[in-house]
Amino acid sequence: MPLLIKNARVVTSTEQYDAEVYAEGGEITRIGRSIRVEDCAPGTRVIDGAGKLLFPGFIDPHVHVYLPFMGTYAKDTWETASRAALVGGTTTLIEMICPGKGDEPLAAFEAWLGKAEGVASCDYSFHMGVTRFDGLAEKQLREIVKRGVRSFKVFLAYKGALGVDDRELYHTLKLAAELGVVVTAHCENETIVAERQAELLVAGRRAPEYHEESRPVRVEAEGVHHLMTFAELTGAEVYVVHTSCEEAVHEGLRAMERGVRASMEVVLPHLVLDQSYTQKAGFEGAKYVMSPPLRDKAQLPKMWKHLRSRALATVATDHAPFDFETQKVMGRDDFTKIPNGIPSVQHRAELLYTHGVATGRIDLHTFVDAVSTRAARIFGLTGKGRIAVGADADLVLFDPNYRGTISAKTHQMATDYSAFEGWEVKGRASVVARRGEVVAEDGKFVGKAGGGRLVPRA
Ligand code: URP
Ligand code: ZN
Ligand code: ZN
Repeated sequence: MPLLIKNARVVTSTEQYDAEVYAEGGEITRIGRSIRVEDCAPGTRVIDGAGKLLFPGFIDPHVHVYLPFMGTYAKDTWETASRAALVGGTTTLIEMICPGKGDEPLAAFEAWLGKAEGVASCDYSFHMGVTRFDGLAEKQLREIVKRGVRSFKVFLAYKGALGVDDRELYHTLKLAAELGVVVTAHCENETIVAERQAELLVAGRRAPEYHEESRPVRVEAEGVHHLMTFAELTGAEVYVVHTSCEEAVHEGLRAMERGVRASMEVVLPHLVLDQSYTQKAGFEGAKYVMSPPLRDKAQLPKMWKHLRSRALATVATDHAPFDFETQKVMGRDDFTKIPNGIPSVQHRAELLYTHGVATGRIDLHTFVDAVSTRAARIFGLTGKGRIAVGADADLVLFDPNYRGTISAKTHQMATDYSAFEGWEVKGRASVVARRGEVVAEDGKFVGKAGGGRLVPRA
């Protein structure tokens, strides 16, 4: 159904203006100071945007939906994750395909694609996880790129599980440089982590709060430095996922100064949560165990500063949903066995708005850039991340005056807890359109289930 949004305040990553936006056939076809309903196709749905902000649909470039990990599986399905994303204004998700080291890349690609196809209600794409590099893997990676997946993912962490060694890293980056695909990377020195984990356990330090001590900031900074060396020598373009601390950001910036093609992501938890959450009594701290870990609270203003300057390009979630009662408890006596991850795909934009825009830490344009536009640019989602004639009609009519509270009792994610239980939000997505179809309204999914599609990438 054609859609006309009247009286809107359009906000993009660079400008804002009053306008009316008309979409037909899934695309924005007209933007004008005033568009008359009589000039639109019969049956056009008209929405009044007065008092609201009109943003391009949000893009979360780092989520896990289907994730076999640490002896269990992430809790969401594409049905639940995509609904939760849309309710929060996120119209496109990029999921990490994470095959086991023995798995063939092509089989993994088919498996991950199969979970989303016909089930996802938002649009989606993938980063192809490279967990092995040999002749067969190389051949299949070339095929996967031909099929439209134009980014890889490597883990320098998770020794013996998803992590790659330096030979594999080198050849993955060389292949990426040749094919012109971006390599996203989780940067932590896996050997130091493994050694420190063993030392802490021997010393009887087994509670969630010791997770950070096993992977302190230098471990991450070393990981970023390591990746940048390899990127420089191979000419590959890299994207550092979930940068959590100033030390890691500096390594990225130093590399960019010497010409390495790189960008950095911060995830919502690293902007609004700190290490003290993992010290909560009664094993509650396990809810906040993710990697890289939540940091000392002195890091948070530094991360906001780097976001404000746009040294941090994107704000993602690293949504990795595990239940507290049945999954996080696997590490009750050993923090190294707590499935890592914080569910947050639904609340990224409203929490970034609440703690970033509403507090004056970032302006509206940086907000749009970080939650939408830059991810579209970096990952070749050419139809997304902008409000322009010809772009996909992924639109978020955002109500800055809304006030509400987050709770696991009402969220759409499949997990039994929220890391943000009881938190107030200032503002939320009030109407969300995915390619012109209204799919969420005032916190409820109202779309046709399974209407999402694999996004073509440049
Ligand atoms: O703690 C995290 N980040 N869990 C998900 C896997 C990953 O490292 O991205
Ligand atoms: Zn990671
Ligand atoms: Zn991740």
